[in-house]
Amino acid sequence: MENTAERKKIVLSAIQPTGTPTLGNYLGALKNWKNMSKDYDCLYAVADLHSLTVRPEPQALRRQTLEMYAILLALGLDPEENIVFIQSHVPQHAQLAWILNCSTQFGEAARMTQFKDKSEKHPENVNVGLFTYPVLMAADILLYQADYVPIGADQKQHLEITRDIAERFNTVYGNTFKLPEPFIGKVGARVMSLQDPMQKMSKSDPNPKGFISMLDEDNVIVKKIKSAVTDSEAKVRYAEGKDGINNLMGIYSCCTGLSYEQIEKDFDGKGYGDFKQAVAEAVVCELRPFKEEFKRLMADKAYLLECAELGAEKAAHLAQRTLSKAMKKTGLFML
Ligand code: TYM
Repeated sequence: MENTAERKKIVLSAIQPTGTPTLGNYLGALKNWKNMSKDYDCLYAVADLHSLTVRPEPQALRRQTLEMYAILLALGLDPEENIVFIQSHVPQHAQLAWILNCSTQFGEAARMTQFKDKSEKHPENVNVGLFTYPVLMAADILLYQADYVPIGADQKQHLEITRDIAERFNTVYGNTFKLPEPFIGKVGARVMSLQDPMQKMSKSDPNPKGFISMLDEDNVIVKKIKSAVTDSEAKVRYAEGKDGINNLMGIYSCCTGLSYEQIEKDFDGKGYGDFKQAVAEAVVCELRPFKEEFKRLMADKAYLLECAELGAEKAAHLAQRTLSKAMKKTGLFML
């Protein structure tokens, strides 16, 4: 990553280990992670510190962290070429987050819609971590001077606050952080629930028919897509008010690379039954190699731990450079 004459752009992203990721996580973010991994210097993290904000059961968090790490490698990310690591293994994230907390205004953090949504949904646990969550996310990104951050549309506001924090810090203390750009795909950026297409597809949906998990068996995927909510027009076309069909068209387009126009042509005169069958087959095909690789990797825990250690070491080396720079600029006394 260092000293190359023509430096590749840096990409960073992360995902929380709060359960098996959904087709939404995959099409909105993970598929792009894989696609970008060839042309950029990529760092991808399992954001376990972020998960603590919802107080997961400790044993479940430990298990899901390793599973999520295996999921990232199963995407086909090469742990030698890319830096794939677990966030809490690199203490610089929490250290920089504290420094950035002091460059973040209470009011701007309070405006985050995700904070407002989560506090409304879980009034019993509105902890300070939930409030400063975007600041830790800013630290994740700024530590590596990332150019691009591949995310789904729901994380866009967090990218904006990251840029605001970086800009404020740079203005007060002098140029320290690169301002990152979000990378949000044209299709797939917001995959909706199969049962309520006005809501984002989410792994915390109490109705499992609303989401497809990346590890769902083929027959479960088919069943879920067949029971997806549509409309009474019985015409496959992308239009306002056809949220269910629009969502399925987005999923199909992402899996096949076909444009909406082409999909409309291909299904002209055909019913929703045929269309759902095609969508289901495309999703099954898309996820199959990943699922096989995941099973293989989970059977080799020693390899996963070795990769996680290597990832943490490489990430910490890069992170420390930026952290030291930020510490010096703020006047922290350094030995
Ligand atoms: P998380 O773990 O909720 O989701 C991981 C990624 O999946 C995307 N995503 C979706 N995309 C399309 N349709 C959906 N229905 C859908 N649901 C989720 C998210 O946008 C995200 O890109 N705060 C982050 C994790 C994080 C992070 C970071 C991301 C921590 N530090 C630094 C980027 C950079 C989160 O909770 O994502």
